[in-house]
Amino acid sequence: MSELEAQLQQIRNEAIALIAQADDLDALEQLRVKYMGKKGPIPQVLSGMGKLDPADRPKLGALANQVKDAIQTQIDASKTSLQAAAIQTRLDAETLDVTMPGSYRPQGRRHPLHSTIDNVLDIFVGLGYLVAEGPEMETDYYNFEALNFQADHPARDMQDTLFLTDGTLLRTHTSTVQVRYMENNDPPIRIVVPGRVYRRDTVDATHSAVFHQVEILAVDEGLTFNDLKGTIKVFLQELLGDDIEVRFRPSFFPFTEPSAEVDVMWKGRWLEILGCGMVDPNVLKSVGYDPEIYTGFAAGFGVERLAMVMHQIDDIRRLYTSDLRFLKQF
Ligand code: DAH
Repeated sequence: MSELEAQLQQIRNEAIALIAQADDLDALEQLRVKYMGKKGPIPQVLSGMGKLDPADRPKLGALANQVKDAIQTQIDASKTSLQAAAIQTRLDAETLDVTMPGSYRPQGRRHPLHSTIDNVLDIFVGLGYLVAEGPEMETDYYNFEALNFQADHPARDMQDTLFLTDGTLLRTHTSTVQVRYMENNDPPIRIVVPGRVYRRDTVDATHSAVFHQVEILAVDEGLTFNDLKGTIKVFLQELLGDDIEVRFRPSFFPFTEPSAEVDVMWKGRWLEILGCGMVDPNVLKSVGYDPEIYTGFAAGFGVERLAMVMHQIDDIRRLYTSDLRFLKQF
């Protein structure tokens, strides 16, 4: 046997022994590259073939192929058993013990302010109203002027309104969206508008500088105060129960005429819930509606106040402090 043949057989023996001992797929892959790659020992041995008698060369070539086949066979066998072992290890690790107690996952819930808004929107959507929204940063025009506030109206006072440095302001009510919506839509209109509003109030148990309102607006031919009363009554009955007692009191808002405030009998006393009225003809004119043809009614209320009444919450600040002991009650 030539020296080169002996070298090939030694390579085979060494490779097969090492491959059989490889204990994971990475190690096996490294051995495959080492012995079977183009820079491996077999091509190196074959490069010495030039020294051989030409008659012996085919024999050496045939032996090299046998050695390669033998190594490859060992690689395949090791690979199959290492893969099976890897799957078995994984199966053992992932076994599920169905007798173990389950793990506790705390469940979240809607914040009482959001669930109140959702309830209100559901009721009005059920009556055929569309949900509309508008910006919180507003101009004097949408917050006051188009809503028929006189130039000297006290609500424009620096003490109530938060003005921004560029001359805009943070809306003090969601009535702004009445004008914005009517500017872009023709009657008949029925919208319900939830949103955040801002006032320069000192924070205490019943006041917050940021709070939420819901506004409704209906404009059509032939709407009367009776339609307003019926709508408000149905709404409050849906929200607070069929036998809720409701009372309308005359009031004043620049953008409605006549205007009213609505109280409900709650735990033995009258509680003011919302403001409402027939849309003032000046407001209809400001958006180009003809008040000789169309009439409308509107209403608006504070969501925090309503949530406080419904859930007997004693301090508005509880709605903002994210205290789980409080929130978990809803
Ligand atoms: N915008 C009023 C406020 O913030 C509430 C209000 C009163 C809205 C009467 C209305 C309404 O739409 O008709 O106090």
